[in-house]
Amino acid sequence: MRKQFLDLGKQPIANGFLYKDQRKNEYFFNLGVAFDEETKLITQTEYVDPPLMFNDEYVYRGSMSKTMRDHFKELSATLDPKAKVLEIGSNDGVFIKNFSPKNTIAVEPCSNFAKETQDMGYTTYPEFWTQELADKIHKIHGKQNIIFAANCICHIPDLNQTFSAVKSLLSEDGVFIFEDPSLAEVINNNSYDQIYDEHPHVFSVIALDNLLKRNGLQIVKVKNLKVHGGSNRIFAKKIDSKIDKTVEQNKSYERILGLDKFETFKRFAIRVEQSKNDLIQLLTRCKEEGKTVISYGATSKSTTVFNYCGIGPNLIKYITDTTPEKQGKLSPGMHIPVLSPGCLLEDGVDYAYLGAWNFIKEINEKEHKYLDNGGKFITHVPVVKIV
Ligand code: TYD
Repeated sequence: MRKQFLDLGKQPIANGFLYKDQRKNEYFFNLGVAFDEETKLITQTEYVDPPLMFNDEYVYRGSMSKTMRDHFKELSATLDPKAKVLEIGSNDGVFIKNFSPKNTIAVEPCSNFAKETQDMGYTTYPEFWTQELADKIHKIHGKQNIIFAANCICHIPDLNQTFSAVKSLLSEDGVFIFEDPSLAEVINNNSYDQIYDEHPHVFSVIALDNLLKRNGLQIVKVKNLKVHGGSNRIFAKKIDSKIDKTVEQNKSYERILGLDKFETFKRFAIRVEQSKNDLIQLLTRCKEEGKTVISYGATSKSTTVFNYCGIGPNLIKYITDTTPEKQGKLSPGMHIPVLSPGCLLEDGVDYAYLGAWNFIKEINEKEHKYLDNGGKFITHVPVVKIV
């Protein structure tokens, strides 16, 4: 049974950056978040139909930050270069480009990105991950040694079909490696902005183990990662494989945090509301003092924050982002203009809200001049503050 604990209100498609004349037809849905008593999964009360989010106009590019390019390069160096590798949700090829097109298959439903990996020489299926597709790939290419997915499995509403399709395509000793934001870190950081249409679930190791086991797989190792505000890389294999101690370590840490209990999430919802009030108060004060406030990184996460808190161009002058596909458009729902990054100093920016707070290290390095000259960042993670 699912029990709702959080209501993030009316939300648009988080990556649905739009032109002025598209505002009339903007799609909205109600973002409610619930705890499933049986599996312990944190999941949305209403799923947005995937083609509304993942289509030929999808704008999120995995390769836009050095942090992520290095991250995938590092992982690839630890994997067998001769293995048959399939990636679910290959985006612009930021992971697979570390492998030879000879043994690598890409699956990507956003046809603009599928075309890019195709042009790079990779066999690419421009489709959603389903059992039908797994059967088709099995027939043509045989079983796979490594099935990989980054920030993708938590995008898929039907986890049972996803996992059983993976199992059917995995070789006997094959490994399914996937990484997504960690629920433990969401709770520790009060980063409620990890919840948006594309993230119908936020995973704990406890819930994933329950769901994988239902589908003939089990977690054999967990690696805690710093990326995306704290993620878990899950290594899963067929049942009866050897299990590393990191699995029980993570599960017992999650039990200490109470991730298997509804009450934990009710307390989280109270902290989320506090965060909203604090952020509105801080931005309103900046405005009253005549300060120039912008936002750094037009992220999906900031779509959740701005729409939940009702923050628009009245409080945030503009958002900067390095992604060409987002520039010149308006942010979803609140319609704040998105510009290419200029110079914060020359522009007289007093405060930059960190929409991409998960890249703080990379941003600090890039913006040292702004910081040295008294520029400040604002964040809501883990509490609303000026940094
Ligand atoms: P990410 O945090 O992965 O976003 P999401 O919440 O959508 O998953 O994406 C970071 C965004 O911030 C991406 O659009 C690129 C942008 N960005 C900048 O504009 N400047 C930067 O220095 C960095 C690191 C990212």
